[in-house]
Amino acid sequence: MIEQQPVKSHLLWLEDEVRNLTYYVAVSLDGYIAGPHGEFDSFLVEGDHMEPIWERYRGTAPTQIAEAAGLSVADGPFDTVLMGWNTYAVGLPDHHLPSPYQHLRQIVFTRSHEGPAGSEAVHFTSADPVATVRALKKEDGKDIWLCGGGTLAAVLADEIDRLALKINPVLFGNGIPLFGAREYAPAMLERAGTHAFDSGVLLAEYRRS
Ligand SMILES: NC(=O)c1ccc[n+]([C@@H]2O[C@H](COP(=O)([O-])OP(=O)(O)OC[C@H]3O[C@@H](n4cnc5c(N)ncnc54)[C@H](OP(=O)(O)O)[C@@H]3O)[C@@H](O)[C@H]2O)c1
Repeated sequence: MIEQQPVKSHLLWLEDEVRNLTYYVAVSLDGYIAGPHGEFDSFLVEGDHMEPIWERYRGTAPTQIAEAAGLSVADGPFDTVLMGWNTYAVGLPDHHLPSPYQHLRQIVFTRSHEGPAGSEAVHFTSADPVATVRALKKEDGKDIWLCGGGTLAAVLADEIDRLALKINPVLFGNGIPLFGAREYAPAMLERAGTHAFDSGVLLAEYRRS
C-alpha cells in the first residue's frame, strides 16, 4: 500500500546535503513530455494538484508568468536550471521569453544556436552536459533543475539523482519522450514520495538508490 503524505510536509530529500540534479517534468501516461510538435496544452493547469506542487517546486515557472499569476518564485528548491535548446526555444519568439527563468541561473545546451537579444542572463554552452553537471555538483548551492527536454535528459540520465514526475491523466499517442534514445540499461530508482490528486495528476518522486 502506498501512503499518502501531505505534499508540503515531506521535504526531506530536498534538504540533502549534496547538490542533486532533479529532473522535474510533466509527463503523459504514455511517457511523453510534449506532443510531436511541442504541444503541451493537454497537461492540466487547473485542479487540486496545482497549489501543493507549486509549493514543493516553487520557482519552476518562467519568472514573468509566475509574477503575472501572483506566485512567488522565492525560496524554491532550485537555484539553477538546465535546458536543451529546443526547450529554451519554446519561449521564442511568440512568448517573448528570451530569459525565461530570471530568478535562476540558466544554462542552455546548444551546439548550433546563439542567444537572441534579451538573453544576456542566459549561459549558452556547447560543453559536455555531463561534465557541466559534475562541475556544478561540486559547487555550493541549491539543487539543480533539469527542465528538459527528453534529448538532454537522455544525455544526462546517469547524472539524475532525483526524478519528479507530474504524471497527467492523458494519453498522447505520440510525441517527445521523457528520455530520448538510450541504450537498454535498467537502473532501479527508489520511491521517495507519491501523491495522488483528485484532478487525476500523480506526483511521483524517485531517488537514485
Ligand atoms: N512537460 C514538460 O514539463 C517539459 C519540460 C521541458 C521541455 N518540454 C518539451 O520538450 C520539448 C523539447 O525536447 P527535445 O527532446 O526536443 O529537446 P531538448 O532536449 O530541449 O533540446 C535538444 C537540443 O539541445 C541541444 N543539445 C542536446 N544535447 C547536447 C549536447 N550534448 N551538447 C550540446 N547541446 C546539446 C541541441 O541543440 P542544438 O540543435 O541547438 O545544437 C539539441 O537539438 C519541447 O517541446 C518542450 O516543450 C516539456
